[in-house]
Parts: sequence; structure tokens; C-alpha cells
Amino acid sequence: GDGVYKFYSEGEWRNSSSGKSVSIINPTTRKTHFRVQACTQEEVNKIIETAKTAQKSWAKTPLWKRAELLHKAAAILKEHKAPIAECLVKEIAKPAKDSVTEVVRSGDLVSYCAEEGVRILGEGKFLVSDSFPGNERTKYCLTSKIPLGVVLAIPPFNYPVNLAVSKIAPALIAGNSLVLKPPTQGAVAALHMIHCFHLAGFPKGLISCVTGKGSEIGDFLTMHPGVNCISFTGGDTGIAISKKAGMIPLQMELGGKDACIILEDADLDLAAANIVKGGFSYSGQRCTAVKVVLVIESVADILVEKVKAKVAKLTVGPPEDGCDITPVVTESSANFIEGLVMDAKQKGATFCQEYIREGNLIWPLLLDNVRPDMRIAWEEPFGPVLPVIRINSVEEGIHHCNASNYGLQGCVFTRDINKAILISDAMETGTVQINSAPARGPDHFPFQGLKDSGIGSQGVTNSINMMTKIKSTVINLP
Ligand code: G3P
Repeated sequence: GDGVYKFYSEGEWRNSSSGKSVSIINPTTRKTHFRVQACTQEEVNKIIETAKTAQKSWAKTPLWKRAELLHKAAAILKEHKAPIAECLVKEIAKPAKDSVTEVVRSGDLVSYCAEEGVRILGEGKFLVSDSFPGNERTKYCLTSKIPLGVVLAIPPFNYPVNLAVSKIAPALIAGNSLVLKPPTQGAVAALHMIHCFHLAGFPKGLISCVTGKGSEIGDFLTMHPGVNCISFTGGDTGIAISKKAGMIPLQMELGGKDACIILEDADLDLAAANIVKGGFSYSGQRCTAVKVVLVIESVADILVEKVKAKVAKLTVGPPEDGCDITPVVTESSANFIEGLVMDAKQKGATFCQEYIREGNLIWPLLLDNVRPDMRIAWEEPFGPVLPVIRINSVEEGIHHCNASNYGLQGCVFTRDINKAILISDAMETGTVQINSAPARGPDHFPFQGLKDSGIGSQGVTNSINMMTKIKSTVINLP
């Protein structure tokens, strides 16, 4: 249709036969900025059928050739950084500079994946039988890694490009085909990123990108018998997907409530800088954002003052102007954040700044003296709103952290490395950062969540391995 972005199937850009579209609302103007095709279940069927066929010959394509194509796509992606970043600014209100960074980081991730893939997939194992009791040396076992088949990638709105390629590149290098279902906010940036893979010259049907309404094609995709693996990043939807999906490997990253524990001996300037960066970058809309500060009472006043001074310096406004704090992704998200703030207010939290909201734009807010009976002590705002809980002991901090349903990352600030390691061991999270804010990157580091924060581990190497299976051939000697 007119002015509606096409979806990508069988190596071509197509209009959906539904004749319908999905609107992408610019979070800043709150007006429709782009429209994408609302694909049908038949179109999904066609895509998966094609992906199945394309995968068979892709798996036979030499590994070095697969890597070569990925390197080409990475270079093209970087060349297209400006227009893709522009989409991110308009679709998800990511600050202009961070939008460019996301695309460049994505190009680097694709190249790294190609390099890592040729190394780890270029090696197998050789085992002999006489190490196991009762066996003679009569069996030789050869193992290698084979692809799973069709990988379904579902990234979230906050990194529509980076968290798409972090699934696409490992899938492809390992010999899988790939179906991408981008988030609605960020779909056009994702389509443009897919265009870079198209230009690199991957075989037809190996990669596709299907857009549309979750209600129409969401379950249909995730429950599709032709899908052999799902890699999902997002919210609670992931829990629902994991219940409905078939017997296939799942990789899930589903948010967190990352705690920042501050000890008495911490470098408070360093801690304050990391709290502001960790809590407020991209307006707190990151799974790994600092979502609760747990500070020892004796240093709490000084720490809060230092954080307040830095929050006062954050600029607030449209992403085009490169402001630090930009409108949150949707009106319903802004309403949810406001609900948490009002609940905390009613229950007596101390507001370090005035609460201000204009449309989807929420001014950064630090809430001191938050107590466990407040929703914000436990829930994930995904906005520029950060609670501080004062604690009397490290144990109290660890207890709060571990009482959460989430377990993504956490961080601890102290000059005592021995204490830091013991605290890290005690925290039930996938990663603990010592003296820095939580973060996923560098992108080859393992990235995983415990409890409701996810299934499996990501990071370049882990994702490649996760998207393969071991195949053995046993030679039986006479
Ligand atoms: O929210 C998505 C999660 O993967 C965070 O990534 O790079 O902001 O730590 P990052």
C-alpha cells in the first residue's frame, strides 16, 4: 500500500495480501510516523516453508563463505548507520548519538560473530571408548556442531537493530536460516537493517522479516511447527512463549530489577556516576538498567546528594536534540511509570526532584527512603525513575536483591575486592558487576538471567553454540 513499508520474504520486498497496516507512533510527537505491513498467517507459512528449503543448502555452504557474507553485511550496515539511526530516533526516541552507536555496535557484533564462528565451528571432538569401564579401545567418536534449522528471532523495542543482529548473526554463521519478527516500534529500523543483509547477497529465503500484529501472527509464529529455535528478548510475553513453544531450544531474556549495592567504603563519586549512567541512560529503558539502589545508611545522605547533583545536569527533551532523557516509548508505558511514582508518593517516599510529565516525556526522578511495601521497590519501571532503599547491613541488601523474581544483573561498589566477590557469590543474578553499572556488553561476554529473567545464556560464543546441536559419528573397529 501507499507509504507502507514492505515486508521481506523470499528475498523480495512485498505488500501483504491483508491490505492492512500497523502504525508506528513517534513517541515524541505521538503521531503516526511510519506504517508497516500487517502480515497474514499464510504469509508466515510461506516464509517458514522457504526458510526451511533455503537452510538446507546454506548448511552445505562452506563456513568461510558464510563468514564472508556476514563480514560484507557488517560493512554495509555501518555504511547505512545514518538512515538507520534516524529511524531509531523517530520510532523509539533513542537519543541521536546512542542511535548511531547502536548501529555501529551491531556491525561490530556481526563481524565478531563471523570470526568466532569460523573458529568454534571449525573444530570438533574425537573421543575413544576405553576410558569408560568395560570398554576396549574399539570405538572412535567424532563430533561436530550442526545447525538447528529455522531460527525465529524476536527482539524488543529498546534495541531493534542490535538485539536483532545478536540473534541473526549467530544463527546464520551456524548454518541456520532466520525469520525476524521485529517489535512494532523499531520495525522500520529493523527492515532497513535487513536491507543491508539483502544487499550483501545472502541466498533468497534464508533471511526474512515479517511484520504485523502480535494478536494475528505472534502465537502463530512462536507455535509454528516449522520453527526449530526461538531467541526472544523482551518482557513477560517471553514467559507465555516458553509455555506454548514446542520441544525446541529457547533463548530468553526477560527484563530485570538490577540492584546496585553501595558499601560504606565505596568510592561514592564513582558510584554516583554509575547510578546516573546505569539508571537513566536511554531513560531507564534497558533490561540492565540500575533499577534499585541499596545503600548503607551511614553513606546514604552523601550518596543521594551526589546523585541528585548529577541528575540535575541531565538534559530533557526530544531525541533529535541529543537530550539525555527522551520520551518513553508509548503512552501506556508512561502511564505505568506514573502509577509506580504515585504509589510511592502515597506511601511516603521522598521525592528528590519534582515529578514532571509532558506527554510521554518524564523528567528524571530519584525516590529516596523507598520501602519494601512500595511497588517500585520490586517492579520494573522501564523509565527514568529510580528508587533508593536505605539498608543497615550488606545482608539486608543481598536479601532484597534475592527476594526479587528477577535475576538479571546486579552491581556492588566497594574498595574491598574480597567482600565484593563474596557479595557477588551471594547475589542470585546472572552477572554481578564490581564497581560499575550493569551492562550486557562487550557483546562477546556471556549474558544471562536467573529466575524470571531468562533461559540460557547469550553473548556471541554462547549464542552460536546454542543455535547448534552436537552430531556424533562412531566408528566401530572390528
Ligand atoms: O535491554 C536489553 C539488554 O540487553 C541491555 O543491553 O547493552 O543496554 O546493557 P545493554
